[in-house]
Amino acid sequence: MQRFKTLAAAAIALGISTGALAAEPLKIGLLVPVTGPFADYGKQIERGVKLYLERNGDTVAGRKVELVLRDDAPGTSGEVSKRIAQEMIANDKVDIIAGFGLTPEALAVAPIITQAKIPAVIMNAATSIITTRSPYFVRTSHTLPQDAAPMATWAAKHGIKKVYTLVADYGPGQDAEAQFKKTFTADGGEIVGDVRVPVTNVDFAPYLQKIKDVKPDAVFLFVPPGAGTIAFMKDFANRGLAQAGIRIIATGDLTDENVLDAYGDAALGVITAFQYSEDHDSPENKAYVAAFYKAYPKNRPNFMSVAGYDGMHLIAAVVAKNGGSTDAEKFVDAAKGMSWMSPRGKITIDPATRDIVQTVYIRKVEKVNGKLQNVEFDKFPDFKDPGKP
Ligand code: PHB
Repeated sequence: MQRFKTLAAAAIALGISTGALAAEPLKIGLLVPVTGPFADYGKQIERGVKLYLERNGDTVAGRKVELVLRDDAPGTSGEVSKRIAQEMIANDKVDIIAGFGLTPEALAVAPIITQAKIPAVIMNAATSIITTRSPYFVRTSHTLPQDAAPMATWAAKHGIKKVYTLVADYGPGQDAEAQFKKTFTADGGEIVGDVRVPVTNVDFAPYLQKIKDVKPDAVFLFVPPGAGTIAFMKDFANRGLAQAGIRIIATGDLTDENVLDAYGDAALGVITAFQYSEDHDSPENKAYVAAFYKAYPKNRPNFMSVAGYDGMHLIAAVVAKNGGSTDAEKFVDAAKGMSWMSPRGKITIDPATRDIVQTVYIRKVEKVNGKLQNVEFDKFPDFKDPGKP
């Protein structure tokens, strides 16, 4: 961006049309884990971003998009993410940073983008507070409170009276737990126990034995999808909690299409609240899903790929609106209030918070044409993040 500004200024001073400079590439630094335990997060985000460019063209306001992918695995080390973001800005000279698979990446990079005045688009990391840490953050994914509140309201209304919460002990887990408790108790439910587990925990048996003894109507869960949730589902089945009449309710992170098949039929009947399902019935989603499978026949479209897709849409729309400029102030000004049709439904960037406003659906895992899917059956339209102060 700096180079673009300088060249543009020089061109204007010399009376040369800046149209001639349109060839300057639009460099987007994609900061995501693509190796390690959360490798799928980065890969799915990258697939979504690339699919957008494939379907809509890779030139914005005359500038060809150049993706600079940098792996900041494991995604849970802020120090690694910070160093790589600094390199992206200083060496790669990126105009925009995007990606952020996990919360620690985004929190660590916040002061860097603020200081360098680089706009950044969050395509997954979902702790509510992140967008308050830099004025240049815009988010196209979700927040945990945004999904936990509808889950709590739905549960309280549908015969679930006693809930035990189990969350990963870091930003999104703490957010999910706090919002679920707040909404569920306000709606008349009772929290009969809570536990926080390490973010990379893969042995749930001791926690589940204790929960079985307490006999809640349901367990409310947030653990980042992957090895941890696969272990949870296995231990839940092996310990006989379902037979004891205990249900699983969660934010839809649990039933991410990317890991759903690994759970097998143990996932049938799990109820979650979430913004995206591969099974969502709309023309936009049908076209998206078809294009996704055509490009990536071995993978399933999920919420991370869609947030990458929508994040790239946002970047393209904002940079086009600003005539090719990626000035951070102009970027967020143009993003505020922007609204469009995503594969998940209508989404809007809240002008007050730069966070996403979207419909949160209540879904149940069912088999559709032999495949496990999150089948939507209720919804909370245009739902804002309730987790902001
Ligand atoms: C996060 O670290 O912010 C995070 C990770 C996985 C999710 C949601 C949020 O599914």
